[in-house]
Amino acid sequence: MKALVLAGGRGTRLRPITNTSAKQLVPIANKPVLFYGLEALREAGVREAGVIVGDTAAEVRAAVGDGSRFGLRVTYIPQEAPLGLAHCVLIARDFLGDDDFVVYLGDNFIVNGIAGFVETFRVSRPDVDILLTKVPDPSNFGVAELDTAGRVVGVAEKPAHPVSDLAIVGVYLCTPRMHEAVRAIEPSARGELEITDALRWLIDRGADVRSHVISGYWKDTGRVEDMLECNRMVLETVAHRVSGRVCAGTRVSGRVVVEEGAEVSGSHLVGPLVIGAGTRVRDSYVGPFTSIGANCELSHTEIEYSIVMERSVIRGVRRIQDSLVGKDVTVALAECAPKAHRLVLGDHSLVRLDR
Ligand code: TTP
Repeated sequence: MKALVLAGGRGTRLRPITNTSAKQLVPIANKPVLFYGLEALREAGVREAGVIVGDTAAEVRAAVGDGSRFGLRVTYIPQEAPLGLAHCVLIARDFLGDDDFVVYLGDNFIVNGIAGFVETFRVSRPDVDILLTKVPDPSNFGVAELDTAGRVVGVAEKPAHPVSDLAIVGVYLCTPRMHEAVRAIEPSARGELEITDALRWLIDRGADVRSHVISGYWKDTGRVEDMLECNRMVLETVAHRVSGRVCAGTRVSGRVVVEEGAEVSGSHLVGPLVIGAGTRVRDSYVGPFTSIGANCELSHTEIEYSIVMERSVIRGVRRIQDSLVGKDVTVALAECAPKAHRLVLGDHSLVRLDR
């Protein structure tokens, strides 16, 4: 079984982070979301992965390399433009050959992995097996309709009137029959080859499309609030570990991770949280569900329920919450008159000021 990992795309919902970076590399508890997926694939017995890359190919290649650190052999497959999930399968034909394969969306996060799902597929080997989860708002997702035996009899993309509350999770187990479908379908109104159209094509021709409902947690981390929620979930599970220096005068409550070379002084840390290697925190409050990346600097600041990526500096800001801060960002109090907000913001930035 091979894997096809989708790490291209536009990432419009995560701008401006995605103006310069791959959304699959945004860190969850200081580890790129894509790495959790690669680890889950390896755990499920996959050894060979094709990684679809787009504009951010260089960054994804630099982070994932040849895949050996994940126990995978990685082949990069450039996609000329984000032409859809089914288009990714279409251009991976040579890489996939006649093997069965798992399509894994590189920005999806699944707790407890996919090993059981893959094992069931290996045993029963339907044409396609899809993963589903119950959601309160199915009209924001691809939705599946099942018959009484649990076979998939219909799929719809973001339906106005969903027939079930079962959203399609970003993992598809496929036999080579999927290749016929992606070759046969036409681009949708938004100009993409849709995987739901490929599934419908197969269902209409009597293919055996089955499904599994996952009980564990799943998140498509396409939006800031999903990233933060996912970060919260993962931080809930981290074990207390202080490898850096926490100086006297700092209060620590709950589980915290302070990485090697980090230094915390005169501060209050309330876990669960992670402070990355080489980061300095002075006279600050870092609250629950916060991940501070490597080599950041925080002083006279209060922050919680947020992700700050590497090398960013936050000085004198009270208080930051529900925020995603990219790499090499500076957020600081203006120290000279006039008293005013002075901003240098990239395209698609979002700033919400408290008065
Ligand atoms: P999406 O989140 O559906 O699309 P997107 O990345 O373009 O994001 P947005 O809607 O915010 O503009 O993509 C799911 C995953 O698949 C994600 O990891 C990107 C990847 N992808 C590709 O690799 N190629 C593609 O053509 C598409 C559409 C997505």
